[in-house]
Order: sequence, then structure tokens, then C-alpha cells
Amino acid sequence: MSLDQQIDALRTEFTAAIANAGDEAGLDTVRVAALGKKGSVSALLASLGSMAPEERKSAGPAINGLKNELASLIEARSDVLKSAALNARLAAETLDITLPLQPAPTARGRIHPISQTIDEITAIFSDMGFSIAEGPDIETDYYNFTALNFPEGHPAREMHDTFFMKTGADGVKKVLRTHTSPVQVRVMQKTNEKPAAGYMTPAMDPPIRVVIPGRTYRNDSDQTHTPMFHQVEGLVIDKTSHIGQLRWVLEEFLKAFFEVPNVTLRFRPSFFPFTEPSMEVDVQCDRSGAEVKIGEGSDWLEILGCGMVHTNVIANAGLDPDIYQGFAFGVGIDRLAMLKYGMPDLRAFFDADQRWLDHYGFRPLDLPTLFGGLSS
Ligand code: PHE
Repeated sequence: MSLDQQIDALRTEFTAAIANAGDEAGLDTVRVAALGKKGSVSALLASLGSMAPEERKSAGPAINGLKNELASLIEARSDVLKSAALNARLAAETLDITLPLQPAPTARGRIHPISQTIDEITAIFSDMGFSIAEGPDIETDYYNFTALNFPEGHPAREMHDTFFMKTGADGVKKVLRTHTSPVQVRVMQKTNEKPAAGYMTPAMDPPIRVVIPGRTYRNDSDQTHTPMFHQVEGLVIDKTSHIGQLRWVLEEFLKAFFEVPNVTLRFRPSFFPFTEPSMEVDVQCDRSGAEVKIGEGSDWLEILGCGMVHTNVIANAGLDPDIYQGFAFGVGIDRLAMLKYGMPDLRAFFDADQRWLDHYGFRPLDLPTLFGGLSS
């Protein structure tokens, strides 16, 4: 085969191979086969050395011409392959920014107004130096009534519309607690009967300052009563705690909770077996408009019961009533939430209606604090 024929054959072979190379790696294989150290075109160039000078004169430019021609074909093909690869990547990695945003769970979820209200109440009392305690929902008859100075067979036991439970194998009479007051006794007792797992009930020596939020149960249902509702109990026991302090604590709490500069309270004599004297407290309000305004107006709204802890209760809890005295109060949490956030029907609280929760619920990351604002 003459040199010209050889050059033509190589040109045909490699031009086709370059055009057929599907990617950069394939193209590089072709480049090595043609122009690499052991490539066919390089071999041809090496043969120049053994040619006669006359022959070399024409063969040199011809072979170098082939070399340059293939080199520029390779470069051009490489450019095509590079931009094809880039386009493929752009197509594969594209983001459809017209898709609707998925809101994060923290943006979509809502905190129930009861949880929010409990957080607000505990934030206020923590700031006043109170601890938080809890007790079991299924309570013994002893803690719910007897230890709280309800005599056996006393009509006050019936006043509570109690859900009585079947007496178990252990012979202990149990009820769904009708109020959070039994936890007063649990907190004061040094030797605590163990409450249900998961509750924090610190046994304390005086001075005791606790608030006890939790669920309570009474067989009652209408616009302002549900069989399950929530209370927060307050208990302060020390050697000289008195009614003046009770009044101050309640005023400070209600001002902070309703986020108003002033509240006016009215203390009415009342009866609870576990306090003496016992009082019910009304807060001054304005009911002339669509919503109730606390701290102004000429109406009164009953919001809590309170009193000085009865000496019998202090003694039942194992403390000496000649040394220790104190006060307690019990507030309906649901009631407070309805008043503050303008919800007309208590039953809706427990319907688990998503639309209601979207409207009245709170954003999960807006934790109530006194410095950051309770409800804003
Ligand atoms: N436990 C009472 C109730 O549920 C409220 C209360 C608590 C009254 C503490 C006085 C002291 O009605």
C-alpha cells in the first residue's frame, strides 16, 4: 500500500471513529489509538526517519497534515460532547419551581388553646417562685374527698357529680378526680403514696409554693360544662402565710394573665370542706359589648374558689397545723381560656375540629413567656 493510500485509510478510519465517539471517554480512546505514543498516525510519523530525504520531503507534510486534521476533528467533537453532557445534566437536575410549597409541620400545626393557657399560667406562677406539681387523674376516694375533710356520707361528695369507679381487687375506692385539690395533700405529704407513673409530685417541706394544672372530671355537660375539664390548683404553706398574700397572688396572676394593668376582685364567703374560711372570687368586667372585657365595667364574673387550708387537711397531710398554715385556690382553666380568647362554647374545645383549631390555635414556636409576651 502506498503512503497516500495508508494516509487515506487512516483518515477514513479515524474520521468515522471520532464522529461515532459517544462520550469524552470514548473520544479519548480514539485519540490514543491515532495520536498517542503508540498510535497509528504516530507510528507513521516515526517511519519518516527511515525514509530517503527525497521521499521524506513530501511524506512529512502529508502525515503531519493528517495528524493536525485529526487533532482538530477531535477537538471539535470534544466541544460537541461537552455541551451535550452539560445540556443533559441541566435537563436532569432541573427544579420545577412552579410546584406549591409544602409548609413545615411547625408552620401548619397548632397548639390547642388549653395547652397554650396552661403554658401561660405556669409561666406566670413560675415567675412568682411557684413550682409545678401533678397528680393522677384516677384518684382514690381518700385523696379526692376524705383527706380533704369531706366527712363520709357528707352531701358535698354528691355536689361534685363524681364519676365513681368500681372498687378494685385491692379494696381501694377510686374516682375520676373531681378537682385538683387532692394533689395539695399529695404534695404536703412527706411519705407520698406513689402517684401514677409519669406524674411529677414533689414531696415538699414548707415553705410550699406550687401550682397544679391538670384534668378533672364531673358528670355534667352543657355550653359551659364538659365531663372532662381542666383546673389549676395553687397551694402556699408556710408559718405565716395569710389571706392578704392570697389576694395579692390572685391579683398579680389575673393582671398578668389577662394582660391588663388593673383588675378588681370581689371576695364572697363560700364553703369548701378543705378551706376555712372559704371564698369565691369574682372579677370585675364589662359584658356590654360582644366580648367580655376584664378590668373595667360594672359586671362581675365568678372565676375561682379559694381559702385558707383547713387545719384538718394540714394534719391529714402530716404537717402540724399549730406550726403551718397557708392558702389554696382552684381556677377553671377552660373558663379562663374562653374569657381571654373569646370562645363562646366550651364543648368545641374537645371536638377535635381542625377548622376550629386553625382559627383558635396557637403557633407552636411562640412559647408564652413574661418577657416575650404571653399571647402575642
Ligand atoms: N377544688 C375546688 C373546686 O373544684 C376549688 C378550690 C380549690 C377551692 C382550692 C378552694 C381552694 O371547686
